[in-house]
Amino acid sequence: MKGIILAGGAGTRLYPLTMVTSKQLLPVYDKPMVYYPLSTLMLAGIKDILIISTPVDIPNFERLLGDGSNYGINFSYKVQPSPDGLAQAFILGEEFIGDDACAMVLGDNIFYGNGFSRLLKTAKKNAEEIKRTTIFGYYVNDPERFGVVDFNDKGKATRIVEKPDEYISNYAVTGLYFYPMGVSSLAKKIKPSDRGELEITALNEMYLEKELIDVQLLGRGFAWLDTGTMDSLTDAASFVQMVQKRQSVVISAPEEIAYKNGWINREKLLESAKRYGKSPYGEHLKNVAEGKLRY
Ligand code: DAU
Repeated sequence: MKGIILAGGAGTRLYPLTMVTSKQLLPVYDKPMVYYPLSTLMLAGIKDILIISTPVDIPNFERLLGDGSNYGINFSYKVQPSPDGLAQAFILGEEFIGDDACAMVLGDNIFYGNGFSRLLKTAKKNAEEIKRTTIFGYYVNDPERFGVVDFNDKGKATRIVEKPDEYISNYAVTGLYFYPMGVSSLAKKIKPSDRGELEITALNEMYLEKELIDVQLLGRGFAWLDTGTMDSLTDAASFVQMVQKRQSVVISAPEEIAYKNGWINREKLLESAKRYGKSPYGEHLKNVAEGKLRY
């Protein structure tokens, strides 16, 4: 399976923070935002990842992440000339995806919770082996800001609507999607919406119509963090800080995940730790390599 991190967009809602840098490179407590969605794909077991961003920001992603060898994986990069919609990622990524299934995560979506890796692996398996799509639903207070999914009495998804004007349910569709092979051909059939974008919701509706989509709910206690506004960005940083301090864990350290997945060895992890100098993040990687953490 291939993976895409979509990390473009203008980021105007966070001006002046994003006037000279990409939103997805802003700090969320102790690490750049993109480390979180990258970790999500790595936890799913995905090793071939395409990073899509704006023409000006792509070089910075390349400087930060390199070719993937620090994580035992392969990165490819692709420019999105203008933010024409989330589903455009599958058209830009057509050659990269080839005949494989493909997951996509938005570069500003942060997930954290018990049992997440298991859910990710099931979604990957279902896309690869039985050609079913998985999206993730999350109960929110302000569903009108998101794609929203509605269910019937039996809990089966019946509609998906992008930013509904009228209430349909409280379940937002998160920015994480697993599609079977053939997603690029379907993406090409999407017509631009009223706001001029190739909507991911239009793509999901196609799978819903064919009854080939599963909506996995992320339950109570699970964190899906938003980074769309100043407040939510600060809240996300506070959440990460609080959990990390309380439990001595580091949320979404890609090198640690790579090491635990057996994709890099101890030497490589120590080398990465050095790259981060005397920072707490580097210190954490060193502790992992030296077996000092008990979880
Ligand atoms: O976060 C989940 C939501 O993401 C879903 O519930 C919605 O169904 C989905 O449409 C999307 O809604 P947003 O309003 O958050 O979309 P936004 O236009 O803000 O784009 C999300 C991220 O993707 C943002 O960081 C910018 C980036 N982006 C966006 C577009 C339209 C791109 O990289 N390229 C694009 O063309």
